[in-house]
Amino acid sequence: MPHVLVTGGAGYIGSHTVPRLLAAGLEVTVLDDLSAGHASAVPNGVRLFEVDLAEEVEAVRAIELSRPDAVVHFAGAIEAGLSMTDPARFYRVNVLGSFHVAEALRLLGCPPLVYSSSAAVYGDPESVPIPETAPTRPTSVYGRTKLDTEGLFAAYRGAYGLRSTALRYFNAAGAATDGGLGEAHRVETHLIPLALRAVASGDPLTVFGTDYPTPDGSAVRDYVHVDDLADAHVLAVRSLLDGDAGAAYNVGLGVGFSVLEVLAAVERVTGTPVPQQLSDRRSGDPAELVADSARIRAELGWTPAHADLDDIVATAYAWHAATGQ
Ligand SMILES: NC(=O)c1ccc[n+]([C@@H]2O[C@H](COP(=O)([O-])OP(=O)(O)OC[C@H]3O[C@@H](n4cnc5c(N)ncnc54)[C@H](O)[C@@H]3O)[C@@H](O)[C@H]2O)c1
Repeated sequence: MPHVLVTGGAGYIGSHTVPRLLAAGLEVTVLDDLSAGHASAVPNGVRLFEVDLAEEVEAVRAIELSRPDAVVHFAGAIEAGLSMTDPARFYRVNVLGSFHVAEALRLLGCPPLVYSSSAAVYGDPESVPIPETAPTRPTSVYGRTKLDTEGLFAAYRGAYGLRSTALRYFNAAGAATDGGLGEAHRVETHLIPLALRAVASGDPLTVFGTDYPTPDGSAVRDYVHVDDLADAHVLAVRSLLDGDAGAAYNVGLGVGFSVLEVLAAVERVTGTPVPQQLSDRRSGDPAELVADSARIRAELGWTPAHADLDDIVATAYAWHAATGQ
């Protein structure tokens, strides 16, 4: 049974992916420093290495000890806004941590890797939907670290034969439909959980930017259900284990919703208005990010099950209501 090491497997997207890798018949080990993840999100029977990837000796030793046949590398610092004020943290975790992963894999003879990249690598795109061939010009330090790390793995492919696939996620959203897992970031910056919190608490949500060149002036994003995102990883791992070379793939639905449209969906699902206040744009935030996901659909056969925004919001609402988070 092929063995997959999942870095960041105790986090939001990682914890939704681990059960799907197990269900696909793969053995899984998780590596996570629990700085943002939750040990309780790692299923019983799955080994957890509690290690900081930015610490070279411990990181390389843990990866070598687990002897994976493939790695899915989620671990990272994720809040684009914070990356503008604390770039050191983002270079340390995202770039240095990824370098240690690449080094450990090189020492192990290059088992292949799936990397969590981001739509943030595109910056402010010339047009949407964005194909993988669009220019990559990140506008945030976060996006820069994601692109630099793609470059790192590409260099290791050319020089050492490390095959890798970069999945460029658009906005992950929602919660597992079986109710067991959801989005529990300790520092929450994502729109849907923040809107659900605003509904629960009555404290207003801040809408950043009302003068973007979009139909209602708020920023437009492509929301993809976290279980569909998880399935993209299973397909990408399988393809690499089958010997494919790996590629960069956008993972999004190809449909954009503005912040105000998402808040309207939250109101429809919860039956409660979302208290909100309008504010200036946040530094580094592009106006519109919508995926052209034709490549992953055609090459890996990715078929998202959740295509409706209200349905995605409803899964998040069910989990937040059940857990009080
Ligand atoms: N959530 C999104 O919409 C989104 C969009 C695009 C890309 N991504 C990328 O997907 C990945 C996962 O995102 P998420 O939303 O699940 O975030 P998350 O914060 O829930 O998960 C990240 C996990 O990595 C762990 N981690 C952080 N630093 C670490 C370190 N130095 N060593 C070991 N573990 C460490 C955290 O404890 C956490 O469990 C990230 O790389 C992120 O950049 C996320």
